[in-house]
Amino acid sequence: MPVIGLNIGKRSFRAVELESRKDKLVLNTFGTFINPKITTDPSSSEDVKIVSSALEQFVSETGFSTSDVVLSIDETHVFMRIIKLPIMSDKELKSSIKYEAEQYIPLPLDQVNLSYQKIDQDITEKGKMSVQIVAARKDIVNKYVDILRKAKLVPRAIEPETIALGRALGDSLNAPSGTMILEMGYGSTLIIVCYGGFVRFTRAIPIGGDVITKTLMQSLSLDHEQAEEYKKAYGLDDFQGEGKVAQVVKPIIDNLILEVQRAAVFFTNHNPSANIKRVILSGGTALMPNLLSYVANKLDLEVILANPLNNIEISPKIEKQKQLLIDEAPSYASAIGLALRRV
Ligand SMILES: Nc1ncnc2c1ncn2[C@@H]1O[C@H](COP(=O)(O)OP(=O)(O)OP(=O)(O)O)[C@@H](O)[C@H]1O
Ligand SMILES: [Mg+2]
Repeated sequence: MPVIGLNIGKRSFRAVELESRKDKLVLNTFGTFINPKITTDPSSSEDVKIVSSALEQFVSETGFSTSDVVLSIDETHVFMRIIKLPIMSDKELKSSIKYEAEQYIPLPLDQVNLSYQKIDQDITEKGKMSVQIVAARKDIVNKYVDILRKAKLVPRAIEPETIALGRALGDSLNAPSGTMILEMGYGSTLIIVCYGGFVRFTRAIPIGGDVITKTLMQSLSLDHEQAEEYKKAYGLDDFQGEGKVAQVVKPIIDNLILEVQRAAVFFTNHNPSANIKRVILSGGTALMPNLLSYVANKLDLEVILANPLNNIEISPKIEKQKQLLIDEAPSYASAIGLALRRV
């Protein structure tokens, strides 16, 4: 059974349809569409209408073969944390999780959907185990479900985008290797640390493609369209346009790198045995020219561009768009991770 992985970002809808056939995974189709509205106000029924009708148009243009969707929920509306508890049985955990979670979740428990997952015996402290708790605001989840239904889609699962990214790009239980994912979008960059097959740490930094474009507009007196064009064509390349674009973009990326370094120190202090070995860049802004080499030079770590298509075959039906998909693959990591949950 095929399934659609759908990420509703601040700027774009991005979706892929995956299907498992015998022992392989096939990507049937993919697409992106401009989000006409930022969907953050849970009380506004206006955005439900606007977003769902855009979504309906997107779905009909892309031509999916299923309406089953795994959707991600925005980082700002979901609370994910790893907590340390004394080692206990599954039954004991089940009866005490609410009480334990209550101490960490900043919202009343009746306002959230709570789920949890036992991860492992703690990697640093003997006699303790790590449990991942995820709490999503009920009003937001309901709003997303409403948007999907109005667009004639069937929500099969909703999960935090960070978990989907960990699935698509993170390490595995059998081959633990500390991985830091930087999902660079429009409004923000998500910093996600995975270790041993689980997302252990997340943080959102309000630096993304929008800030870069707006700063270019101001600094170089460009209109929005021009700024967007220069950003995508020149990015951090010192040898394009006399390096003027790169000069404006660099300090923004430098600020982001500072936050990344802080997050890495924080994580390593709390998890001394889980070294971060590599950094993976994903999201639309990760496509910016020369970003990879710039970040790699600043961080003392292996830095690579996300390849969420690893182990996924591309259907011959979309042969013509194959190169586009490969080129833009880093921006489909969330959508692929979401679809992987069900296939
Ligand atoms: N080739 C490119 N070079 C540089 N930037 C790019 C390129 N392609 C897309 N972008 C930028 O990526 C951003 C959109 O990325 P993405 O689709 O990942 O965002 P989003 O998921 O909608 O946003 P958010 O994650 O903040 O909710 C835009 O700012 C866009 O200008
Ligand atoms: Mg995004």
